[in-house]
Amino acid sequence: MPDTRTHKIAIVCGSLRKDSVNRRIARSICSLHDRLDCSIVEIGDLPLYNPDLDEGTPPEPWARFRDAIRDVHGVLFVYPEYNRSLPGALKNAIDVGSRPYGKSVWAKKPAAIVTASPGALGGALANHALRQCCVFLDMPVMQQPEAYLGQVTDDKFGEDGLLKDGDLKKLVTTLAGGFADWIDIIRAGRDKLLSDSEQQMKNG
Ligand code: FNR
Repeated sequence: MPDTRTHKIAIVCGSLRKDSVNRRIARSICSLHDRLDCSIVEIGDLPLYNPDLDEGTPPEPWARFRDAIRDVHGVLFVYPEYNRSLPGALKNAIDVGSRPYGKSVWAKKPAAIVTASPGALGGALANHALRQCCVFLDMPVMQQPEAYLGQVTDDKFGEDGLLKDGDLKKLVTTLAGGFADWIDIIRAGRDKLLSDSEQQMKNG
């Protein structure tokens, strides 16, 4: 039976820029699927990761960020390529969420990785740089469709900040559907594991 549950999604946008095309793409993805209930989790105020600060009470922005990610069913990363890799602010957020050791908030959260750029390559190298991190973070990342969105310029968006009708919007609509399906699969698998283990406990 098809899954019809709504999924709580954290959008982590790697651009801190007010008029970011990536932020507008992220909002468009969420507006194009009624089972994705998205909220943007800000990363611009996170102090640079330093393990010493995790020894006592961690900085409040770290605690806020970790709580926000812990609470969701999936994570949508949308960001530009900076110098052929991911922006430093995003890498810092990844590091903050991954510690203290053994308490990563990323583990087993289904993710989608989208990069957008006004250039032709659509941030493909930055896209794969994060995929490499996700192996170690134990995040199941949606594989297809791949999302290296090139030639993403201001004229692709309407006054509401969302994508106008056109090929890019069609592609992003497919992406949104693919991500909802991906989370269905991971959540259903996890629910089955949990119910199997509860059953085993009852059976002794
Ligand atoms: C860029 N930009 C860029 N673009 C690209 O396709 N490959 C790259 O390696 C880089 N490198 C890069 C480094 C730095 C420091 C900046 C500020 C920019 C251009 C970038 O894709 C463009 O500015 C996007 O519009 C940024 O995305 P937002 O902020 O609009 O979401």
